[in-house]
Amino acid sequence: MTELNFPDGFRWGAATAAYQIEGAAAEDGRTPSIWDTFSHTPGKVRDGDTGDVACDHYHRAAEDLALISGMGLGAYRFSVAWPRIQPGGRGPVNQAGLDFYRRLVDDLLARGIEPWITLYHWDLPQELEDSGGWAARDTAYRFAEFSALTHEALGDRVHSWLTLNEPWCSAMLGYGTGEHAPGHQDKIATLRAAHHLMLGHGLAIQAMRPQHAGNQLGITLNLHAFTPASDAPEDADAVRRLDGIGNRIFLDPLLRGEFPADLRADLAPVSDLGHIQDGDLEIISAPIDLLGLNYYSRSAIAAAEGEPHDPASHSPWIGSERVRHISRGLPVTDMGWEIDPDGLRQQLLDVHAVAGDLPLYVTENGAAYPDKPGPDGVDDPERVAYLDAHLRACHSAISAGVPLKGYFAWSLLDNFEWAHGYAKRFGLTYVDYPTQTRIPKTSSHWYGQVARNNAVPTA
Ligand code: FCB
Repeated sequence: MTELNFPDGFRWGAATAAYQIEGAAAEDGRTPSIWDTFSHTPGKVRDGDTGDVACDHYHRAAEDLALISGMGLGAYRFSVAWPRIQPGGRGPVNQAGLDFYRRLVDDLLARGIEPWITLYHWDLPQELEDSGGWAARDTAYRFAEFSALTHEALGDRVHSWLTLNEPWCSAMLGYGTGEHAPGHQDKIATLRAAHHLMLGHGLAIQAMRPQHAGNQLGITLNLHAFTPASDAPEDADAVRRLDGIGNRIFLDPLLRGEFPADLRADLAPVSDLGHIQDGDLEIISAPIDLLGLNYYSRSAIAAAEGEPHDPASHSPWIGSERVRHISRGLPVTDMGWEIDPDGLRQQLLDVHAVAGDLPLYVTENGAAYPDKPGPDGVDDPERVAYLDAHLRACHSAISAGVPLKGYFAWSLLDNFEWAHGYAKRFGLTYVDYPTQTRIPKTSSHWYGQVARNNAVPTA
């Protein structure tokens, strides 16, 4: 295969999230988030792991930023912990918490690395959950207030902002299946949470827009790439349904100011969506400057109409539970996710078709493998192959006219992989948790070369 050059100015970055790396859970005024409560609840996270220490990034930020510099990356996407900046989710800024991020940003800028802030990567202050969490409409207003506080303070030096990371996971896994914090299993609460997250996004954009002119504001979604398991019309309809409850439930309000009519019909037996108030869709569709996409895999979908549905099974596909995910026998990562780079190319084309000229960024892409240090470091050829194939897919989408402006590898470091604890390693850098030693993997050297050359090398 030949070397592929990316357009001038293409952003190369790596991504992390606060709860997954920071640790220092009770330091400098930080209060618990729903993930502290959840991870400390027996049986919720594999091996009882918590984010209490994680990668101890709170105390090792300088060392971690040196890793980014070492790779030659131009951008770093991280999230700010709401309960560090505004403990309890209400009231004034906690200066010590904000100062941590100010120092981080200043250190990044001094190194010539562009900071990208995600305002909400799942760590809702526990007090807000105690008042109803995302199922409560007021949480959207609290989020807008927190976003404005943070953007006011840091928007003079951080010019790229994402409101939410993957509202599908926050709503469907947090309130639907219960696999993520806060661990509820309630369909009505899930639909309310999905809407209030997006309302919070829109209100945050409205509040931030006048604060620092010229900043680019957006959101990151994990749109699901689906393919029908067969040519049968039932399978096509199963894909339509999952595309509704998995993708268009977010995309249509965001880009069109509309709730999808077919999804409204699919959901009618569950909810009349009375929580969507007049004017909400207009707020949610406030113009954005970029859209972030997180892509890991694609799934083949088949209808399962004839099969009995166990109402206690807590599917995330509310109103469309009678579907099956079919294995296509493709190679999988350590998460069991099928490796399908063409799904990324297709998704970029599909989103471009509805989003028009809106700049797109891949804000996460990567793979977990059971890496182990050897005598010569940590060799991870499967991750290199995964990244190579997905970057080729990005290049092909760009060649087809998609305004893809940047790519962030997930993740800079091995970290706390939510309900999987520390058992799944996504890092370009290996973390030896007992000693907190960082070891750049082969993939980090490879990816650094890509970033420095603005090109994917010949295979
Ligand atoms: C995404 C999350 C990110 C990480 C990756 C593997 O859903 O945004 O925090 O856990 O998956």
